[in-house]
Amino acid sequence: MGISYRCPDNIVLIGFMGSGKSTVGRLLARESGRYFLDADTLIESQQGRAIPEIFEKEGEEYFRALERESAEWMAACVRGTVISTGGGMPIVTERLRDMGRVVYLEIAFEKIVERIDSAQRSRRPLFSDLEKAEELFERRRKIYESRADITVDASAPAERVVEEILKRVS
Ligand code: S3P
Repeated sequence: MGISYRCPDNIVLIGFMGSGKSTVGRLLARESGRYFLDADTLIESQQGRAIPEIFEKEGEEYFRALERESAEWMAACVRGTVISTGGGMPIVTERLRDMGRVVYLEIAFEKIVERIDSAQRSRRPLFSDLEKAEELFERRRKIYESRADITVDASAPAERVVEEILKRVS
């Protein structure tokens, strides 16, 4: 006898590097009965190498193409999951809303700098220069807002952010 299982919609977390997408995503998955998928980790496992190496050896455009392809795959094939996206995914794909309910984790740049340590920075090629990272942050804010179904304040502790998301998606 087959198992009958009804998949809830995906929840897609977007926001700048360091906004807490992975931490909030894992907790949200547990609390909402979904699986958790980190889009950066998905690309790394498919490529068999880490993102800094992909940037260094192949360049940013190559990484963006992989990111776009992974968005297509997730929109077509993934259900019942909380998806934590890389900070640039909303820029490279039109398919976010086909992936699920899109939640923007909004947070001030200063707060991100406080949170992110040097080990975390070294895993993010676009965070190596603080001034450039802030320019990127400013350019992307409006895009994140326009792509989101729901915007939440991500400066609160992860548990509170999760509560807020659960209240707003149901
Ligand atoms: C990027 C964000 C990173 C990663 C890559 C590029 C970006 O993901 O995808 O380094 O363009 O903002 P996180 O947002 O998970 O750090």
